[in-house]
Amino acid sequence: MKITKHQWPVLIVSGEFNFPTDEGFRLSELVEELKGEQELSVIPSFTYEDAAEIVRSRADIGTVVVDWNLPEEDESEKSTAIDLISIIRGRNKKVPILLLADRLDTEDIPVEVLQKIDGYLWKTADTIEFLAGRIEMHLDKYVKTIAPGFFGMLVKYAQEYKYAWHTPGHMGGEGFLRSPAGVAFHMFFGENTLRSDLSISVPELGSLLDHSGVVGDAEKNSARVFGADYTYYILNGTSNVNQVIWRSQLVRDDIAFVDRNCHKSLNYAMVITDAIPIYMIPRRNMRGIIGPVRLSEFSPESIQDKINKSSLVSKDRKNETPKMSALTNSTYDGVCYNVIQIKKQLVRSVENLHFDEAWYAYARFHPIYKNHFGMSDDDLNKDHPPIFCSHSTHKLLTALSQASMLHIRNGSEVKIDPDMFNESYMMHGSTSPQYSMIASLDVATKMMDDDGEIMMNDTIIEAIHFRKKMITILKDLRKVNKDDWFFGMWQPHKVEIDGKFENFEDVPAEILAKTQNAWVMSADNPWHGFIDIEDNYAMLDPIKLTITTPGINDEGEMADEGIPASLVTNYLIDKGIVCEKTDYYSFLMLHSLGTTRGKQGTLFAELFKFKELYDRNAPLVEVFPEMVAANPVQYGNVGLKEHANDVHRYYKEYKILDSMQEGFQVIPDQAMKPSEAYHEVVRKNVEYVELDHMMGRTPAVMMVPYPPGIPIMMGGEMMNEKARPIFEYLKLRQDFENAYPGYESDIHGVERDERNGKKYFKTLCIKQ
Ligand SMILES: Cc1ncc(COP(=O)(O)O)c(C=O)c1O
Repeated sequence: MKITKHQWPVLIVSGEFNFPTDEGFRLSELVEELKGEQELSVIPSFTYEDAAEIVRSRADIGTVVVDWNLPEEDESEKSTAIDLISIIRGRNKKVPILLLADRLDTEDIPVEVLQKIDGYLWKTADTIEFLAGRIEMHLDKYVKTIAPGFFGMLVKYAQEYKYAWHTPGHMGGEGFLRSPAGVAFHMFFGENTLRSDLSISVPELGSLLDHSGVVGDAEKNSARVFGADYTYYILNGTSNVNQVIWRSQLVRDDIAFVDRNCHKSLNYAMVITDAIPIYMIPRRNMRGIIGPVRLSEFSPESIQDKINKSSLVSKDRKNETPKMSALTNSTYDGVCYNVIQIKKQLVRSVENLHFDEAWYAYARFHPIYKNHFGMSDDDLNKDHPPIFCSHSTHKLLTALSQASMLHIRNGSEVKIDPDMFNESYMMHGSTSPQYSMIASLDVATKMMDDDGEIMMNDTIIEAIHFRKKMITILKDLRKVNKDDWFFGMWQPHKVEIDGKFENFEDVPAEILAKTQNAWVMSADNPWHGFIDIEDNYAMLDPIKLTITTPGINDEGEMADEGIPASLVTNYLIDKGIVCEKTDYYSFLMLHSLGTTRGKQGTLFAELFKFKELYDRNAPLVEVFPEMVAANPVQYGNVGLKEHANDVHRYYKEYKILDSMQEGFQVIPDQAMKPSEAYHEVVRKNVEYVELDHMMGRTPAVMMVPYPPGIPIMMGGEMMNEKARPIFEYLKLRQDFENAYPGYESDIHGVERDERNGKKYFKTLCIKQ
């Protein structure tokens, strides 16, 4: 299928459709002409309000024709036409707007309208063919500007139906048609996907590895839009972005200052660069939610202290500056750092700054995030080292899976040399890039460039509506029964608006979406539970929705009854609703450009159904049939409420949250670098050791329990007395899994042995 003007409908807004007047007849003729001769599609709209709704909900409108004079014209109608034109322009700077008017009207049309439209169509003076021709001309011109450079060239190339004599071997899809499985694949993915799957030897599309031609232009355009000096497209995810960045700046025994709360790709970056990590420790609140690293951790004294204490940094290198600091922004629970404050602290104490913003590529496009993202340029202090940012464009923007971006901003003194940097880029790149992925990055860039703020505003406002709705549901339930319960939100209860504290739910969403201060955490309003939070240092991202379950309050006190979050998320998964992350008493749902009201409504409906099942203590078999079938003796005769409270009481009795807190505050002694531990894996100088026998041993691989998804031990760290809280926490997890079969949760780096119906954790350790 080609991209043509015929797919972009013309929206005509007029009250005169079907009117038995001369103007009404001419309008019908115009529609017929557009549909017939021009083969365009037309959407009629009778009121300005309807048209505004269409423009809000559809981005495929190719031209809008707005009648200036609705028949029952009065002053208020006129101002609605002006409103409609502002709404259209507010959402789309380029779509042609043509005003359908009488020549006599021109004097009435205010300048603010003239500045926003692309032309007039005289209602009665011109021929129908001429009017239709004008509309078609504007539409055609506009449609030609829609595809950004690389994507446009890819489409053009794919439409030329060339005979390919190069890879990929399916040659534009033909190869698939030679065997039924291939035919099915071709049917499903379609001609365009396969025609645009091309080889790197197509010169028209430039070279990704050299950043030349149209693909190089696309990267440069992304750099402009995302505020970088250089942007690189990376086609195997942000995992790889992180490794390209590190490989470009660190070599053996360089010191890296790393967030302990980092993604495992950064831990692997330590392995491949052979670097020595020293760690920033994130704080957590009493609910177990991971908060920001303390600002004091970034002070030169604190960094020096960590270097002094590191057994891996040799005496003669204690004065070395870390080559890289790597911080996860935002955190997994949507806490975003004020990057300006961090830059100020780190400007002299590290050589490069790396912000891993895998989940946060949109921040630049909405003022609510001002100063809280790596490529922020509002900072008046331009004195900073080179800054690197990793973006999973595919996660919360609109690229295809694995399509990510790597952004670089030069330091005030130290500049990044693109040729040198490209060595690392090529080391991690394939010589057979996927062109649709590149096109998706090009398109994601143009979407954010054209409409980023409006799309983000819509997303933020929808997320705020969700947040407010959650509170009002509980309030309404309690009007009927003051002891009733519902899920909560981890968010401010009160916000300061114009110097006055108001209930969060009473403030209009549009105001909350404009007021950064409402989201900034402060010690004076400690809803977040980080009681020592620094001023103006971290904010909650409105679109990351942490839903809380009953059982623990903000102070960490555990109630007699409660609902562990994993029960809720397992239930939701069964209903086709997949959440991003599950903690003990909270779970995270993400809002993104793709979230719709329908999706929200379905989630509310399922939360209510869960509540109903819980309140009537529905038989567990009704809720989790598979779990009950696998463990009929233990779960066959219990109800959901009983079961939830059983698990909750287990957590309470064994203080699992406290144990997690303690385990994650320890940075164990390092016997060797993570890379050396891995070398032992390669040499097969490792063996599985069961947790019960692990005291005194050194794991060769990292152990990452979910929740919370942070390494509790890195390869090469010692399980000794200092690490006892880690040992105790892992033991608790093992005991819990044995007490409650069916609750096996993921712990990367940990396998399970089973004997006599009991599970034993085991991990690869260095041989003694
Ligand atoms: C903070 C962070 N960085 C990097 C990554 C890796 O991203 P990708 O899945 O694009 O490889 C993730 C993935 O979840 C992540 O959470």
